[in-house]
Amino acid sequence: MADLARRMWVAEGKGERAPVPRRTVPCMQTAWPHMLVPRPAAASKLVFPFDQMGVRYRYFARNAVWDAVHLLDLVGKTVLMPAYHHGVELETLLAAGVKPLFYRVDAQMRCDFADAKKRAAGASVSALYVIHYAGFPQDMAEARKLADGMGVPLIEDCALALLSRDGRDPLGATGDVSVFCLYKTLPVPNGGLLLVRGQLRSQLDSLPPVRSPKLSSTAIHLGSSLLSNLELRAGPAGRRAREMLRSAGRFAIRKASVEFVSTGTQHFDLADVDLGISSLSHLVLRNQQWPEIVERRRRNYFLLYAMLRDVAPPVTGELRPGVCPLFYPMPIANKASAMARLLARGVETVDFWRIRHPAVREGEFPEVDRLRETVLELPVHQDLTPADAEHVATCVRELCT
Ligand SMILES: Cc1ncc(COP(=O)(O)O)c(C=O)c1O
Repeated sequence: MADLARRMWVAEGKGERAPVPRRTVPCMQTAWPHMLVPRPAAASKLVFPFDQMGVRYRYFARNAVWDAVHLLDLVGKTVLMPAYHHGVELETLLAAGVKPLFYRVDAQMRCDFADAKKRAAGASVSALYVIHYAGFPQDMAEARKLADGMGVPLIEDCALALLSRDGRDPLGATGDVSVFCLYKTLPVPNGGLLLVRGQLRSQLDSLPPVRSPKLSSTAIHLGSSLLSNLELRAGPAGRRAREMLRSAGRFAIRKASVEFVSTGTQHFDLADVDLGISSLSHLVLRNQQWPEIVERRRRNYFLLYAMLRDVAPPVTGELRPGVCPLFYPMPIANKASAMARLLARGVETVDFWRIRHPAVREGEFPEVDRLRETVLELPVHQDLTPADAEHVATCVRELCT
């Protein structure tokens, strides 16, 4: 089966040293044309967190973090923050005037709440910030206990954990305030979400109004995702069409000096903090098959796990019921070389969180340093077929054995 998958994916070598991949497995899910079919909001079934009261849509998750700081009145105050973080959520907190107090995250990406408690002793802490990495749940009962014990609000960062559950409990349902990134899990051109629970909900209206993003910027993101989809479905012909359209698009952007707000960047920009979600993102959201997304991500993860657990077990361990994995977090010694070799075989990967924000000193949290050095994202998203997942696993096995 693995060989079959490989043959389907990779052009015959025909004597060449490095076979040219017939198509590339993209590291992100792509937008399909049918997702742009107009559909009344009432016709689509909503799932958590979209079906909740107290929701505010934003362009990015970082804007929702900014909202959380202001809603919880954290400016100038100390927040317990995991030492393992992307960097942009930390930049947002710092830009808002928050003082982070870092706590340990272990080698399996688990927040160490006992360490957080120790570090908080003697400090005047005003909130507890928790991150679910790659869709894998933190121990939210412990987080809640710690936050309640200190009498402070809990901020649950689900930027990497949309649609994920711990058993039956959706991630994001425990925090007083939760933030989500939509475009990491779904093929929307932009989107973040703030979810506010309890009495805080009544204060949502006190936040400043949001501004709609420019249609041109949204259209570029969406166009790029549709072109990736074309490449995914049409192989080399799709790739050529994508390259041609991309160059034409870049030329047009330069000539018309179109405003473009990148997503997925490392840095917080105050100029974009008032941006809301686009209406095109809402349209794509209305055309999602929610259960299928979770099922496919879990299936692809299990396929990778079955083929890789002996050579490259994921740092997060087993996939418990309900978890919607964002990716397969594979530990590997030389990330750059592994990425290049996998790309040559048609597998896109992501160097997960290699860059440490200077607010955390090197060596202060050795397990986090090690995670930054070694974790590589392997794709498991909803666009991958079982043959695609097998191809990814086969290429990784070849790399590791
Ligand atoms: C844990 C975490 N929180 C927040 C963010 C911010 O997400 P966005 O890019 O939507 O602002 C990120 C981005 O990667 C993240 O990883």
